[in-house]
Amino acid sequence: MKRDSFGSRLGILAAAAGSAIGLGNIWKFPFITGQNGGAAFILVYLLCIALIGLPVMLSEFVLGRKTQANAAGAFKAIEQDKPWHLSGYIAIATAFIILSYYAMIAGWIFSYIGRAATGKLMTIAPEQLGDYFGSIIGSNVEPMVCTFLVVALTAFMVMSGVKDGIEKYSKILMPVLLVILVGLMIRSVTLDDASKGLEFLFKPDFSKLTTSGVLEALGHAFYSLSLGMGIILTYGSYINKKENILKLALQVTIADTLIALMAGIVIFPAVFAYGFKPDAGPGLIFITLPAVFQEMPFGALFETLFFLLVGIAALTSTISLLEVVVAFVTEQFNIARKKATILLALAIYLLSIPSTLSFGMWSGIKMFGGKTFFDLFDFVASNISLPLGGILVCIFVGWIWGTENAVKEITSNGLYVFKYNGLYDFIIKFLAPAAIIVIFLNSTGLLST
Ligand code: PHE
Repeated sequence: MKRDSFGSRLGILAAAAGSAIGLGNIWKFPFITGQNGGAAFILVYLLCIALIGLPVMLSEFVLGRKTQANAAGAFKAIEQDKPWHLSGYIAIATAFIILSYYAMIAGWIFSYIGRAATGKLMTIAPEQLGDYFGSIIGSNVEPMVCTFLVVALTAFMVMSGVKDGIEKYSKILMPVLLVILVGLMIRSVTLDDASKGLEFLFKPDFSKLTTSGVLEALGHAFYSLSLGMGIILTYGSYINKKENILKLALQVTIADTLIALMAGIVIFPAVFAYGFKPDAGPGLIFITLPAVFQEMPFGALFETLFFLLVGIAALTSTISLLEVVVAFVTEQFNIARKKATILLALAIYLLSIPSTLSFGMWSGIKMFGGKTFFDLFDFVASNISLPLGGILVCIFVGWIWGTENAVKEITSNGLYVFKYNGLYDFIIKFLAPAAIIVIFLNSTGLLST
């Protein structure tokens, strides 16, 4: 079977940036920034992205491109005799689990797109918005239908392949995302009193930064760049040998970071301008923002655009999560892409149901110290197997394959110049694994800060 590949440089960028840019940028980044005091947290985040995120992304890209194989096959292609491909299995399983509940959250966004467009959200009293959100996600049927819609749309785009599916749709969706984002940003910064929000974002107050804030920044850098799940590796395997990977990794990293900052610029000036608090946590976009939009002229319009933006960002990420699993299954078991996509999408949907019901009729089912199904999936995937996948990639590239081989691939065998061998070697062999261990200890609660 001939392997599919990306057709153009812009297409690769749209797809990879599309994967990186997601709920992490527009939902999570703003709320953790809000909880951790603003600008100082952002500075630490930028440092983590540059020092650790970028080199690890580069490593995943080249490992994929060198081997032209899926997330498990890549390890096997380099090291046949030892069970390194198991780390690929971990990455693929992580993507599978994360997709199941990521699609559920994207489903909540879909619910909100509908309610924003019909003006319904404008009619709920601000103090009721929290309960309103709770009643939607706890209503069992609607979130299940919306999650199904997200999974079905994702499968539809992945089914047609890399060039004719993922690339094609990313090239349509990402520019739309950018246009909406810029429009919303202009709206937000031209509000009276926008400066308070901008100050919150850009004027650091280091007294508000805590150790756990720093660790959260580090963990989020990984998540936001879609690292540690074989995604960037799989996309790398569809890139041709002459492509400048360093430039690509830089562009994806910069795009992801800029979009997160732009999302902050959309949200905080508006939140402050209308006298709301920035530290609402996960409810920031579902509870605080609808109240903000109620105050804004033409609020329903901007609200619809906002949730549309988040929905698009989420979809280009779900595509990449599904692709990791589809690439593996089609190649490993020699199953046609269409069939594999449909079967896997169904399995992922089934797995999403316990998470969805965790907010509704199964909210009373608790395991392992009070975790619902959703808490459990999220804990295992984000806090255990994601760092594990990340560290295994670093160790593999740093110590098994060797950074000299990685550098050869980065330069396309001498076609491009790469001047940071020593630094790259140090980061991949020591700094990144150490950082990931600390993230792991922190997020599993083994390290108390
Ligand atoms: N990077 C995506 C985001 O910021 C999340 C994601 C993680 C997507 C891993 C795919 C894989 O939302």
